This record gives sequence, structure tokens and C-alpha cells, in this order.
Amino acid sequence: MKQKVIVREVGLRDGLQIHPTFMATESKLAWIAAEAAAGVSEIEVTSYVPPKLIPQFADAAEVTTASLKIPNLMVSALIPNMKGAQRGIELGVHKLNFVMSVSHTHNLKNVRREPEESVADFKNIVALIKEQAQGSRPIITGGLSTALGCSYEGRIAVSEVVKRAVQLVQAGADELVVADTVGYADPRQVREVFEAVLKEVGDVPVAAHFHDTRGTGLANVSAALDCGITRFDASLAGLGGCPFAPGASGNIVMEDLCFLLDSMGYETGVDLKKLVEVRQIIEKSLPDIVMQGAIAKAGLPHGYVPAAQRQAA
Ligand code: COA
Ligand code: ZN
Repeated sequence: MKQKVIVREVGLRDGLQIHPTFMATESKLAWIAAEAAAGVSEIEVTSYVPPKLIPQFADAAEVTTASLKIPNLMVSALIPNMKGAQRGIELGVHKLNFVMSVSHTHNLKNVRREPEESVADFKNIVALIKEQAQGSRPIITGGLSTALGCSYEGRIAVSEVVKRAVQLVQAGADELVVADTVGYADPRQVREVFEAVLKEVGDVPVAAHFHDTRGTGLANVSAALDCGITRFDASLAGLGGCPFAPGASGNIVMEDLCFLLDSMGYETGVDLKKLVEVRQIIEKSLPDIVMQGAIAKAGLPHGYVPAAQRQAA
């Protein structure tokens, strides 16, 4: 049996939040449907933030409702606070990705709160979720931004990351995401941070979220795989970046991540050819957006046999 790795598309949130042009709702929905059809089983489809702050997500309700109709797709959305959680619960979204930053300064800039206030918000959000009838309770993920570096504070102490991870788990997180929001991490640091976190959080699954700002993204994936991480965020064409973190740029490229994993023999469930074709939806809808991607540019190697077929051979 090949080991399964879950790849999660975050481009519709992380990719679009920094882009000044609104992507038409129908294009977002076409992107989501096509990527789900290519085998991506979890998509962060939007963000429940004030539309005044990020107008790109003014259609969050419509995007969520339509995405929930796609069979076998885990539909998630980012939330920065209680109001976001309430909106998500009302819409019936499957998963809420709460975000706070390990960096004190970035937390203040991004969500206008002290980190301790964010932890308190998270506890209240978990309490609200537990009040919901079973079956209509979303999964709640605790996300730790700037866990591997911050463009305001520089290096972040591993002990701080572990402290916040433990606080979110004790508050009731179903899952954690450890994020290199500004692409500062190197593989050795990834090992150090993920090993330290995994040691303290018991059975709670930990996902990795890397940006390729300095070209270390896929090397960091490899290091995280070595630590036993099997959930990775990525974005189609490597779109991405936090509007409240100077110098932030794209996530690791989903197509290249899937190729790396497939080459290494991990099972992603993704059809690489179909995945690459999804880029056309973005190209058509946002012709001015900068798209990255090695596999889209170079194509699959001559005679490449996908992992699923290698197993059968
Ligand atoms: N969704 C929609 N509206 C929201 C909201 C949410 N999640 N949270 C707050 N609001 C509304 C409030 O109802 C209030 O509306 P009003 O002016 O009509 O009364 C207004 O926004 C201000 O509310 P307040 O609680 O004072 O928020 P704030 O101005 O301190 O902003 C955050 C705090 C967290 C909402 C904001 O900083 C934020 O959304 N940050 C996330 C940024 C982001 O997306 N970064 C990239 C992802 S990492
Ligand atoms: Zn990110």
C-alpha cells in the first residue's frame, strides 16, 4: 500500500487575497469544480473576512454554497475571528481554518489582536462549534502563521511555535496548520520545528503550509515528509501571499507538489494532466496574474508513469 498524502488547494484564498482584481464568481466556481474533478479532495474556497477589508471575498457565501454541492469535496474557509466562524457555521462549511500568527507583530497587523486574544477567540469559537448539533459541526483547524519566520520580527523561537500549538490543541483544535507565511524556512529548520510540535500535540494531525518565496518550498516539503507530515497546502500556479506581510509571495505550486509526491511514490489521488489544465481557467479569468509552475512549463518526463499505474504494473 502506498502512503496517502492529502494536498489541499489554498489558491482561492491565499492566492486571491493579495490580487487586486476581483475574480468573477463563476470563474472561482469553475476552478473549484475542475480541480475537484482532477482529484484534489480539499479546497479552501474563500475567506470569511470583512468584504471592506478584502473585497475579493465579497462572494464568500455564494462560493461556499456552490462548493458544498460538489460530491466528495472537503470545503474549507479561512476565519480570523468569531464573526467568521458564525458565518461559516451558518453556511454549513465543512472546515474552518482559524488563523493566528506566532509573531506578535504580524498578529497585530493581520488580525488586530494580541496573540493571547486570538487564543481566547479560538476557545470561544470551539465552544460555539461544540454547541452545534452533531453532523452540522465543522472541523476546526488551528493555523499558526509566521511560524518559521516573520518579515517584521525575523526568526521565530521554536518554543513560541510549540507554545501556541499546544494552546490551540488544548483549546480543542481538530487539526493544526504550521505555516511559513513569508517563505523564510529551510529544510533543517522545518525538521526542527515540526519535530518539536509533533512531540507535544499527541494525535492531532499537523499540516504544513509553505511559500516558495525564496525557492525552498519543495525542499521544505521533503523535510516535512521525513517528519511524517502527510497534509500539505499548495496553490495552483503558485499564487499567493499575505497582504499584511511585507514581501510575501506565492505558495508552493500545487502541480509541482503533486508531481514531487507522485514521483516519490506517494498517493495523492490527483490526475496531473487534468490538474495542469485547470490553469487555463485562471489564465482566462485573470490574464494579468503571474503564474508559476515547473511542470506546466516543462511537461511530464518522457515515458512518465503515474504512481497509481506503477503500483498496478
Ligand atoms: N466577517 C465579516 N465582517 C466582519 C468580520 C468577519 N469575519 N469580523 C468583523 N467584521 C465586521 C464587524 O461586524 C464590524 O462591522 P461594522 O463596522 O459594520 O460594525 C467591522 O467588521 C469591524 O469589526 P471588528 O471586530 O472591530 O474588526 P477589526 O476591524 O478589528 O478587524 C479582523 C479584525 C480580524 C476582522 C480583520 O483584521 C481581518 O479580517 N483580518 C484578516 C486579514 C486577512 O485576511 N489576512 C490574510 C489571511 S492570513
Ligand atoms: Zn499562506
